[in-house]
Amino acid sequence: MAKPRTAFVCSACGADTPRWAGQCPACGEWNTLASFTEPRRSGTARRGGLATAPQPIAAVAGQEEARLATGFAELDRVLGGGLAPGSVTLIGGDPGIGKSTLLLQCAAALAAELPVLYATGEESIRQVAERARRLGLPPGTLAVVAETSVERILELAGESAARALVVDSIQTMSVAAVEAAPGAVTQLRESTASLVRHAKATGTAVLLIGHVTREGVIAGPRVLEHMVDTVLYFESDSGSRFRVIRAVKNRFGAVNEIGVFAMEGQGLREVRNPSAIFLSRGTQPVPGSAVTVAREGTRQMLIEVQALVDESALANPRRVAVGFESNRVALLLAVLHRHAGVALAAHDVFVNVVGGVHLGETAADLAVIAALASSLDGRPLPQDLVLFGEVGLTGEIRPVPYGEERLREAAKHGFRRAVVARANAPRQPIEGIAVTSVSGIREALTALN
Ligand code: TYD
Ligand code: MG
Repeated sequence: MAKPRTAFVCSACGADTPRWAGQCPACGEWNTLASFTEPRRSGTARRGGLATAPQPIAAVAGQEEARLATGFAELDRVLGGGLAPGSVTLIGGDPGIGKSTLLLQCAAALAAELPVLYATGEESIRQVAERARRLGLPPGTLAVVAETSVERILELAGESAARALVVDSIQTMSVAAVEAAPGAVTQLRESTASLVRHAKATGTAVLLIGHVTREGVIAGPRVLEHMVDTVLYFESDSGSRFRVIRAVKNRFGAVNEIGVFAMEGQGLREVRNPSAIFLSRGTQPVPGSAVTVAREGTRQMLIEVQALVDESALANPRRVAVGFESNRVALLLAVLHRHAGVALAAHDVFVNVVGGVHLGETAADLAVIAALASSLDGRPLPQDLVLFGEVGLTGEIRPVPYGEERLREAAKHGFRRAVVARANAPRQPIEGIAVTSVSGIREALTALN
C-alpha cells in the first residue's frame, strides 16, 4: 500500500508545495497554506470505473452527445451551448449571491426532461421544497436529498439513474475515507475527485456549488479549479439586483462569455438584452455621463460610464473608481493633463460604471475621458452619442477589436453618433449612425463639442 503523502496546499491559488511556509511560494499570499494528506488508496480504487483500454481516436470522435438545456439561454451560452453530459461544472460566488437559487431553477428545468438529483448539505429538504414552491417551480420529478456523504449521494444518483447531479455545496461534503472535516482542503479535493470519477464513468452532468472565501478556514473553489471541466463565477456589485455569470475556465466552450440575470421575488430572471438595463438613463442629458460599447465574450453591450469631478479640499485629492481599474483612471488623468491641457490635480475624481458591471477592456478609455471632461465643464454630452477607443500614453486614440460590430449594436439601440479611433471608422457607412473618427485625445475632445 502506498505511503500517504503529506503536502501543503494554498487556499488562495490551489498550488501545492512539499513544505509549509508562511507565504505561498506560488501566489505570494500569507497564511494560506494548509496541510493536505492524500488518502491511502488501493490500486483498484485508484482506477475507478473508467475504461482504460486505448481506442483509435477516429472511433471516438464525432460521438459528441447532445447538450442539456438548463432552462436559461443565458447560462447555456456561457456553458458553450448547454450542459455537456459527463462534465463537471463548478459555480463559485459569495454567500447569498443566489447560487442555490440558480441551480434549483436549473435542476427543475432539467428534471422536466430527465432524472435529476439535487443534493444539499446546506439546507433541509423542507427549506429547498419551500423555496421551490416560492419560486413557482413546476412540482415535477426533481429528486432532492439532504445529505453530506459523497458515497451516499453517488449511490442515490446511481439508483435513480440521474443524468444531472447538483451538489450544494462542495464545502459541506465529505468522503468516509478521509478523516479531515468537511471544507478542509483534503476533503474538498477527495469529494470533488469522487464526483469527477462518477461524472466521467456514467456521463452524468455534475454541478458543484462552491463558496468563495477570501481567507479563513474553509478553502475556496480556487483549490478545485484544475480538477473540474468548467468554472463559472457568479458575481454582482453589493446592493445591485443584477447578477453576472462568467466562465473563467471552460473545456466545452469559450471563456469570458457572460450571462446576465436579475434577482427578483420569483428567483432569477435572465436578462436577454443587457444593454437595456445598463442604459436606463433619464431623458434629460446630464454632465459626466458617457456611453461606451463594451464587448464581453461574443457579445456587445452598451454601458454607461459616469464621472464626477469636484474641487478637492484635501491635500491628496480622492481618486475613486467603481467597475473600472483605478490605475487606469490615474493613467487617463495624466494623459488628459499632458496631452489635452485638462488639469485635474486639485480635483476629487470619481468614476463609476453603471449597473454593477466591471469594464476590463481598454475600449472604455475614451468614454471615461469624455465623461471626465463633461463633468469638469458641466456640459452634457449628446444623449445619442457612443464612444470607444483605447487611449495611449502619447495621447493617441487606438483602435479596438470588433469596431463594426460595436457600431451596429449602438445603431440598433438608437444611437446616432459615434466617436471612435481612426482605424475603427467603418469602410462602408453604417445605417443610422454617423461616425467621427479621431486619432488623438485633443481631436476627440474637440469632436465632443
Ligand atoms: P441563495 O440562492 O440562497 O444564495 P447562495 O446559495 O449563493 O448563498 O440566494 C439568497 C439570496 O437571494 C437571499 O438574500 C434572498 C435572495 N432571493 C430573492 O431575492 N428572491 C428569490 O426568489 C430567492 C429564492 C432568493
Ligand atoms: Mg446556498
